[in-house]
Amino acid sequence: MRRIIIAGNWKMYKTIDESVELVTLLKRSLVDIEGIEIVVCPPFTSLSDVHEALIGTNIKLGAQDCHWEKEGAFTGEVSCQMLKSAGCEYVIIGHSERRQYFNETNDTVNKKVKAAIKEGLRPIVCVGEKLEERQAGRTFDVVKDHVENSLAGLSKDDMLKTVIAYEPVWAIGTGVVATKEQAQEVHSYIRGLLMKAYGSDVAKETRIQYGGSVKPDNIRELISQEDVDGALVGGASLKADSFTQIVKGCL
Ligand code: PGA
Repeated sequence: MRRIIIAGNWKMYKTIDESVELVTLLKRSLVDIEGIEIVVCPPFTSLSDVHEALIGTNIKLGAQDCHWEKEGAFTGEVSCQMLKSAGCEYVIIGHSERRQYFNETNDTVNKKVKAAIKEGLRPIVCVGEKLEERQAGRTFDVVKDHVENSLAGLSKDDMLKTVIAYEPVWAIGTGVVATKEQAQEVHSYIRGLLMKAYGSDVAKETRIQYGGSVKPDNIRELISQEDVDGALVGGASLKADSFTQIVKGCL
């Protein structure tokens, strides 16, 4: 059985005080939730304080990016070891904003995924097509390229520690959510790719989140789809009310 995973990607929002305020509200509103894995991914500066605030709760901590080296002269970068020491269990890797604005490629994503797993972090690996790629009928090709190359060389065990987030770029921050049919079609395609590469046990166990304009009013129909195992939530994760409603929408 795949456990539903709802993760909040806070992007470049929230100071340390604002971050602690948000998780203080979330701890209360989500205290009774069982059976759903809940993760928040604040900016680097807030990680330690949020970790402190989350000790003993059912909410886990993730980061939004990492570097693949353990340490070194890489000004501005943060290693997986550092994220681990700040209390992270998860790390988002290869988000489309990083692919678009910061030259992230399948190759760098792959290095980061391997480094994260080696350090005991669980990667959330983002894949997904742009609008023009969908319109040109290239959705499956793009997703295949992202999945196969971002996850190249992972063992079955590594794959079981990894979460895939299907995030169509045209749905991110636009308010245009994929229909449940569009999401299911790509999720089932991704599971098919995993089946070929890793066999049916791994394919059945691997969680595939949907991301892109997930809101309290659309989570139910998305999560009702057979191959949708959770959500990566941007905008709606920045308010305690909407994030709580999204988590509760999966019950
Ligand atoms: P959104 O972002 O929910 O604001 O569309 C999702 C994401 O970028 O992970």
